[in-house]
Amino acid sequence: MSHQNLPKNSALAGPVLAIESSCDETACAILSSEGVCLAQRVVSQDGHADFGGVVPEIAARAHLALLPGLVQATLKDAGMTPDEVGFVAASTGPGLIGGLIVGASFAKGLALSLGKPFVAVNHVEAHALTARLPGLVPGGAAFPYLLLLVSGGHCQCIAVEGVGRYRKLGGTIDDAAGEAFDKVAKMLGLGWPGGPALEKLAQSGNPKAIPLPRPLMGRAGCDFSFSGLKTALSQKLAPYGLDPLPHQFAADLAASFQQAVADVVADRVSNALKMMPEAGLLVAAGGVAANSVLRARLEEVAASAGLRFAAPPLRLCTDNAVMVGWAALETCREAADLGLPQPDDSTVRPRPRWPLEDMAARFTPQESVV
Ligand code: KG4
Ligand code: ZN
Repeated sequence: MSHQNLPKNSALAGPVLAIESSCDETACAILSSEGVCLAQRVVSQDGHADFGGVVPEIAARAHLALLPGLVQATLKDAGMTPDEVGFVAASTGPGLIGGLIVGASFAKGLALSLGKPFVAVNHVEAHALTARLPGLVPGGAAFPYLLLLVSGGHCQCIAVEGVGRYRKLGGTIDDAAGEAFDKVAKMLGLGWPGGPALEKLAQSGNPKAIPLPRPLMGRAGCDFSFSGLKTALSQKLAPYGLDPLPHQFAADLAASFQQAVADVVADRVSNALKMMPEAGLLVAAGGVAANSVLRARLEEVAASAGLRFAAPPLRLCTDNAVMVGWAALETCREAADLGLPQPDDSTVRPRPRWPLEDMAARFTPQESVV
């Protein structure tokens, strides 16, 4: 449907106060209408390490305990009073439903008490749009671009064609990349989250020492699979039983695993770029994008396709609320450009699954995102 005959609206005015609570990071940020970050805070919850992974119930209770103080502290950092907030935003999916309910309810309650609108944000869309934060990528991140999202919960190649316009080109058929790093790190007796510890151990290892499979490498498309790689690695450990691993062997395994993941991801991304010849940029986001071996491979892939490569700084690659506020601003600006009413999502319910493809509905009159 054309929006050309609809009256032009102006976008909701900031500052936007944004909340993130979809996994185990509790975060709040305040951004100006132009997307300048005025203050931001992230608490990476402890209390999960003993269980070797995020425990949803612990995460939800921690969000509840942390949010009031965190929001107050972020307002104080920005030198603002609550009534100076223009509107409130929060991730309402996809993610762990308990945490989403806590964050979204808190944000809606705050918006209601201030008499300001509430904007629901898709967490994956927020990762997808982060590269467009003002000043982040030299030369800017104009649409269309290819996003590789690699985190503990996500592993996908997404064609980012515009605000609300996403096409999933491929994704994991079993584990997410970060999940594979975490599980392998656990097998090697490293702490949790395992990715950073594994990368550190790999620095003293030989990436060619131990042959490991490269699942799906060389196959068409850009799906990912990591479970066979994980199983192959566990078989290399079997002869040691419960004995501690010799340090050099553990380091060689870590380096060989990291190299296998980087090879596979590079192969998949290079196929994704062929599926999206119009892409002007390759963007990586998510915690695993912090891995320096992977980053180096992705730079090579982008260069051989004649493209720039951009990865937001680590604090914006991992879960944070700046990206949530920015996605809300982009959504409001897009609605205004299309002459559509500004979102007021106070009735939107949090949802554990929320495919990116559904976001186009926001910009289709008469449809709702609920
Ligand atoms: O994006 P993120 O903070 O949280 C979500 O999962 O949404 O990503 C966390 C994941 C964990 O699995 C962690 O082990 C992995 O990112 N990770 C890394 C590195 N730093 C974090 N994996 C490999 N190398 C790293 N340097
Ligand atoms: Zn995330």
